[in-house]
Amino acid sequence: MENTKKEGRYNRIYNQLEELTQKCDNPISQMATVVAVLHHKVEYFFWTGFYLLQNGRLLVGPYQGPVACQELAKDKGVCWAGVNRKETLVVADVHQFPGHIACDSRSKSEIVVPLRNNEREIIGVLDIDSKDFGSFDDTDAKWLEKIVSLING
Ligand code: SME
Repeated sequence: MENTKKEGRYNRIYNQLEELTQKCDNPISQMATVVAVLHHKVEYFFWTGFYLLQNGRLLVGPYQGPVACQELAKDKGVCWAGVNRKETLVVADVHQFPGHIACDSRSKSEIVVPLRNNEREIIGVLDIDSKDFGSFDDTDAKWLEKIVSLING
């Protein structure tokens, strides 16, 4: 997608989510709202959701899209890599990513953005998949990081 169009769209989505997330301080309600807005406003988002750390396990949280793995095998795949490296990961071709977990074989590219609590500890990730290769770039990373920071940790 052309960058100016992408910037403009994310700017509008961010403003809407900033307002919506202020209406309720429950993080799960905020996550559900974030994935609903993102999934329905960006056409290349095929699966949009959160995986949350609970007692050392990474379990699925609020999401939109096809049914997904409920638990991700420890330290495998893109979501665990985002947790362990503590940074956003943009994967242009998931088939090239060592240990990638294919919850749905139609996913071809992916972005994972860490979610942090007030102490800056990682408590989960926002994970978005696309059915096309190379869907995500620095613009997606920048805006999705801003959007994830709206959630109360
Ligand atoms: N592909 C992810 C697993 C989650 S699904 O994409 C919804 C991974 O490798 O961690």
